[in-house]
Formats: sequence, C-alpha cells, structure tokens
Amino acid sequence: MPLETNRMKIEQHITAAAVQAVKELYQQEIPETQLAIQDTRAEFEGQLTIVVFPVVRFSKKSPEATATDLGEYLVANIEEVTAFNVVKGFLNLSIAESYWIDQLNNELLSPDFGILPSNGKKVMVEYSSPNTNKPLHLGHVRNNLLGYSVAELLKAGGSEVFKVNLVNDRGIHICKSMLAWEKWGNGETPESSGLKGDHLVGKYYVIFDKEYKKQIDALKLEGQTEEEAKKNAPLIKEAQAMLLAWEAHDEHVVELWRKMNGWVYAGFEVSYKNLGVDFDKFYYESNTYLLGKDTVDEGLAKGVFFKKEDGSVWIDLTADGLDQKLVLRADGTSVYITQDLGTAQMKYDDFKMDESIYVVGNEQDYHFKVLFLILDKLGKGWAKGLYHLSYGMVDLPSGKMKSREGTVVDADDLVSEMIETARQKTEALGKIADFSEAEKEALYYNIGLGALKYFLLKVDPKKRLLFDPSESIDFQGNTGPFIQYTHARIKSLLNKAAYQSAPVPADITLSATELDMIILLGKYPAEIASAAKSFSPATMANYLYEVAKLFNKFYHEVPPIVKEEDAALKQLRLDLSSVTANILKSGMRLLGITVPERM
Ligand code: ARG
Repeated sequence: MPLETNRMKIEQHITAAAVQAVKELYQQEIPETQLAIQDTRAEFEGQLTIVVFPVVRFSKKSPEATATDLGEYLVANIEEVTAFNVVKGFLNLSIAESYWIDQLNNELLSPDFGILPSNGKKVMVEYSSPNTNKPLHLGHVRNNLLGYSVAELLKAGGSEVFKVNLVNDRGIHICKSMLAWEKWGNGETPESSGLKGDHLVGKYYVIFDKEYKKQIDALKLEGQTEEEAKKNAPLIKEAQAMLLAWEAHDEHVVELWRKMNGWVYAGFEVSYKNLGVDFDKFYYESNTYLLGKDTVDEGLAKGVFFKKEDGSVWIDLTADGLDQKLVLRADGTSVYITQDLGTAQMKYDDFKMDESIYVVGNEQDYHFKVLFLILDKLGKGWAKGLYHLSYGMVDLPSGKMKSREGTVVDADDLVSEMIETARQKTEALGKIADFSEAEKEALYYNIGLGALKYFLLKVDPKKRLLFDPSESIDFQGNTGPFIQYTHARIKSLLNKAAYQSAPVPADITLSATELDMIILLGKYPAEIASAAKSFSPATMANYLYEVAKLFNKFYHEVPPIVKEEDAALKQLRLDLSSVTANILKSGMRLLGITVPERM
C-alpha cells in the first residue's frame, strides 16, 4: 500500500483538475508530471501554488493569462479552492480553512499519524565495520550515527531492515598490533593496565608504526629508496609472515589473534552502547575471506579474472575506465577486496535483500566502484541492489584528524566530553534541582549525545564536516538541544494544562501561523518517506528544525495558552502543541536522539 496523506490527496485532486482544465480550455493533454505543486511563498496569499510555465506551451498565452484561466477553472470546480491570485507564472491557491482543520482533526490527531505502510522491500544497511587494530575515532562516529539513522529511517519508511556490521578482524593491520604486543607488550592486558581493550590494542598498533618508521629510516641511510626500505624492513616481513601463519592456522598465532580480538570486541561493545547503536548481525572477515577466495576461483574459471606469472590474481577493468585490480596476492593471502567478494555473497545468501547499503567513507569510493563492477561481471543479479553510501571526512576546528599517529579524536573521549559539557550547561540553567542523581545522569547523556548526533547528521553526508563541540550544544539555533528543549517546553505546557487530545470545531478561525503549523506538521509522513528514499537524515533533521522554529514563533505570538478562556481556541493551541511534540519526539528518534520530557 503506498503512502497517501491528505496533503498528497489534495495535490492529486488539484493536479487532475488542472489537467482537465487544459483539456477543456485548450483541447490539449498535459502530462500530470508537468504540474508541480508547492507551498505558497510566505509573502503571498494562499497555501498551494502551481507553477504554470510548463502550461504556456499548451495555452499559447502569457503565463499570467494562463494562470488566470486555470485559477478561475479551479475555483469553479474544486470545492476546497476558495480563491486565487497570480504572481507572474505562479498561481497561488487559497484552500478553505475548514479543509486544514479537517486535516488537523482527522489526520494529525490520529494515533497512527506518522506510521507508514509497509513497502514490501528488504534492505540491508552495513555500517560501522571497523578494523580490529585500534579504537573507534571521530570518523567512525559519523559512520555509526549515519548508518543507524539511515536504518531507522528506512524502517519508518516501510522497509524491512537488517543492520549489519562487518568486522575486518584479520589481515596485515591486526598482525602489526599482534607483533608489537608480542615484542614490547610484556604480557600487558586490559586488566593489568586498566586500559579498555580496543585502546590497548591500538597502543601497540602505534608502537608498531613507530618502530617500523625507525627501521625504514635506518635502511634509507644505508642507501635504499623509501619504497625498498618499506618492503625490506624486518618488522613488515615479520608481520607478513605472521599473516601467512595465521592463514595456515598456526596455533600460536591464532591463539594470540583470538585473545587480542577478544579485548577489542569488549571495547567496541562499550563504545557502541555509548553511542546508542546496535546491529542485527555481525559478519567477520575471518569467516568470509575463504568464501572470497572461492569467488576468486569462480572468476578465474569464468575468465573474469586472470593470473599473473607470480601467481597473483587480477581483474582488468581498463575497458571500464578503471585500472587493473589485484584480487589475490601472489603468496595466496587475500586482500581487502577478496573478503568483500565473499562477504557480499554471504550477506545475500543470508537475507536475499532487495537493496544492500554500505555506509563507508568516501576514501573508499573507488573500492566500491570496483567491487560492484566485479560482482556484476561475475553475473550476480543482486549486484544491481548494492549502493555505497559515501560520506565525507569530519574535521575539528583545530584541524584534520589523523589516524595512526595517536592524535586522532577518540570516540569514547568525545562521548565523555559531550556528556561533561551537557552537565555544565544544564547545571548553569538550574532547572532540574528536583531530579534524582540517575535522572540527572540520563539527562546529561541525552543532551550531550543529542548535540553530537544532531550536529553530525544535519549535514549532507557527502559534505566534509567541521564539528564544533561547543556550537553543537547551544540551546539556541539549529542544534539538537534546541529541539530537545522545545519538546520539553511543550511537554511542560501540556502537563500544566492537563491536556487531552480532542478535535476542534470546524468553524474555528486560525491565525496565519496556526495555519502554517498544520501545513508543516502535515508533511511529516512525506518527509519520512523522502528521507528514507534519499538515505538522508539531514533532510529529516532540517525539517525538525523548521517545526521547532515554527512552534517557537507560534508560542511567542499567542497569549499564555494555559490561561486561554475560549475553550475551542485553547484546544486548538494545545492540539497543535501536542502534535508538534509527537513529531519532534518520533523524528528525533529516527536520528537516534532521545528527547527528554523535562530539561
Ligand atoms: N574496515 C574497513 C575500514 O576501516 C571498512 C569496511 C567497510 N565495509 C566493507 N564491506 N568493505 O576501512
């Protein structure tokens, strides 16, 4: 069942009538798609506007004369259209107030408002997907928040959604941490050091890199080029040998790998909990890379891949405007894309989904182009449903985050800092003296995380982003806390008024702002559908900001609502407030943000 809101129905009704008008007035067939309806701009009379420029071709009249013809026809033929005015090629229509009040009573106040029908689609969202050699950083934070929100939006849009995490738990990167720990770790464990497991393993990754660099420099002094030195440094050779031993199931290496990955998983679990994200299923590269190697064999048999003299396996994509790409190393160990071939197959076998989304940073645009192309060339019909949701880097005001050098912004630290800032700001406001300690902690968490999530999600994923922690937690402006605060304020109003939802009389008179509210609130279901379709938490975030802003405008315009003596007016204003609060709450939930009842 497709989504059908009152707003969509009246647009369809008007469009159909306009098509009929063109037929009767000009004896021509205009396709419905050429008649776009939009909100009337604030400075003009009316609520819905038809852009008539595409009609001029059929009327052979000026835009103004065409708009006037259509306006007269619509007023005469559509009950809800009460008047019109023409501004150049724009036909502005006034819709009867009773129509909007009916929309409030029968749609916005209905308990299932904002719940969309199922669309029958199965969608997988892969996100987070860390390597197990270091803790999560700010880039992962954007990834996790984006993936979680896109999954929630898709669900709300009517799809069946599977959230999965692919863990790159094997490969040269983890061997580097393992090797450094063996050499310089002195048996250090999370327990002995008090370090979170992912941080402990990350520490040894950094040590590896330092020592490796020293060796490279030494070899360069002996006259080797940078490239030679990188290849010949004893440490990297040892790491490569370790990877081979791992793939050969060497007991000692596998044992060490298991132990250190175990530390990392325990650490990640805490970080995920802090970020409020979750997964339906985990895939592990260690379980999928062999299937990847099978896929390499399949590709060789089909002639899609070819083998070089040294035994390495490649695909030639030059005819597709790309280059030659390695899919299996000469020593038989698998590379990053090998496991992705296997993982993609395993995911599809498990879920038979219609679409599969990979939330991964834009530095991997090329990798996914190649991956999808290979799967297509291997004749996988489901490859058409694969989509790389690529996002830009996150910067902090102090400059670019760097990985590997120990100067990264750590995800856990960031979360603690956000909570701490929320504590300071909220204590300064002094409105929660009667909260219990646990309630206070929950509030600081929700405000701190709300600020972070909203700030990262309100920006188009494609865009590079500058995260400013103190700006994000401002209680005014386009921020999470502003929307949270607006919601809490409405809740306190509704409580004071002992609010009960009830319809308002059909003949009540609306102020311009009240009418604007009904129109904006009425768009919520379509906003969910379009945010889901375009995988865009940003459009939802910005819609919620518009809703919160409009509520604040309304709230400042009307006299104190609780004291309103006209019962019908009071009901109207409380109803509008309540629908606003419901939308803010459920919309923010789709961004992974909890809105407190009080703050
Ligand atoms: N672990 C990889 C990294 O940190 C990202 C994995 C993305 N997902 C995938 N299926 N390749 O760069």
